[in-house]
Amino acid sequence: MVIETGNSLTSQMIYLSIMCQKQDDFDEFKSHNDDVLLRSIAEDLRHFLPTNAMLASEHFAIQKLHQQTKPTVHIDAFLYDDDIIDTLCEEGKMSRNYCLTCGSHQTAPLEFISHSFSLMELKFLYRHVLPDLTGKMVVDIGSRLGAVLFGGYFYSSASQIYGVEMNADFCHLQEVIVAKYQLSERIKVLNADIRTQASLLQKADVVVMNNVFEYFLDKEEQARSWEFINQNIKKKGSLLVTVPSLGESLSDFQLF
Ligand SMILES: C[S@@+](CC[C@H](N)C(=O)[O-])C[C@H]1O[C@@H](n2cnc3c(N)ncnc32)[C@H](O)[C@@H]1O
Repeated sequence: MVIETGNSLTSQMIYLSIMCQKQDDFDEFKSHNDDVLLRSIAEDLRHFLPTNAMLASEHFAIQKLHQQTKPTVHIDAFLYDDDIIDTLCEEGKMSRNYCLTCGSHQTAPLEFISHSFSLMELKFLYRHVLPDLTGKMVVDIGSRLGAVLFGGYFYSSASQIYGVEMNADFCHLQEVIVAKYQLSERIKVLNADIRTQASLLQKADVVVMNNVFEYFLDKEEQARSWEFINQNIKKKGSLLVTVPSLGESLSDFQLF
């Protein structure tokens, strides 16, 4: 009897350990699969866009780009990770440096600007920074290529993931990906200025704002947009993710 109990306990333990092993294997496989799918989405998007991932319809952003005093390259971190940039540099299709004195070997590093979170940043945000988002609603203000939406789909359990983007061409690109990868059950893309989306913001559990206004709106419009955000993120316990920090984002404005 004792032996029997011992046996069944041992076999239960072995069974449990096999279950855990299987669960670990499954989690590892799923995590790898999520990365592969996100890389595949990035590859698809690269085919639709020029290397700087900017569109002719981004009039204000292009104007701002021309006003930069330091030589700057726009490289979208979601589309191009460091390995891809290295390959492009090796192939002579891109450079990390610019020539200080034409014809000499004196060079200086170029300034890099990304308009999206990278895959690593998204993984860190959803897997390590934010709490479990089961049943929660995420709103990405200025969803551009959809990186935050696709990251939320694969790296979190958020049940509703909304992207609000004022540029119709970018919304179309996001829709193409949502349709191709069948993500529409949890992802919705709205072509709108965030200032028309009060009720959506009021319901959001997590609001993401990655460099959203600075390159795309003039100062007055930025100030009005921040006022609107302040008035409409109301839900108790809701979380606001900003890059740069909220303090830095608001330092140029006299608000609230
Ligand atoms: C830096 S991108 C953010 C990309 C994306 N959220 C990410 O992290 O990968 C900012 C985007 O915000 C959009 N945008 C700026 N102001 C907006 C507004 N008031 N309403 C909606 N979209 C806006 C711009 O068109 C641009 O595509």
